[in-house]
Amino acid sequence: MKNSSRRGFMGKAFGAVAGVGAVASLYAMKKSWDPLPSVKAAGFTTLDMSAYKDNELVTEKWRGKPIFVLKYTPEMIASMTEKQKGRSIKIGDSYYLVNLGLCTHLGCIPGYNPDEKSFLCACHGGQYDFSGDVTKAPPPRGLDIPPFKIDGMKLVLGEEGPEYKKMKESGVTL
Ligand code: FES
Repeated sequence: MKNSSRRGFMGKAFGAVAGVGAVASLYAMKKSWDPLPSVKAAGFTTLDMSAYKDNELVTEKWRGKPIFVLKYTPEMIASMTEKQKGRSIKIGDSYYLVNLGLCTHLGCIPGYNPDEKSFLCACHGGQYDFSGDVTKAPPPRGLDIPPFKIDGMKLVLGEEGPEYKKMKESGVTL
């Protein structure tokens, strides 16, 4: 083998090894980014409900969808109607709205007004109260409630606990 072609061969061989190494390390990197198989397969999201502040809307994510979480103030709790209570989740002494953050009209994301304690969907003017119940058309119903299970101070989204089943049976959510 001539010196130059030997160099060419060595270069190719090294390139091939480096290529395999790069693919392997990319694969390892991707593996570390991916969620654990159990998390991915089950599609659960666990929320620590003690972390939320009164009347401060937080948008979480579950299965790629926005989830509104709103902890009620003592005044909101005191003013709740039975219907609003029926749409709300009680954890410890606190009440929360946990709803899909998509307007039930055509799927826009409504905005929360903490002063008015209500939601407005800017797309066609639909409105919801602080419990996610519809107060102004065109939305045909209140914001949908994702499947949930209460686990102490935690809320597991994606699991159907008894409180969620009750809401579904009584027609509070689809
Ligand atoms: S999409 Fe919200 S009112 Fe139409």
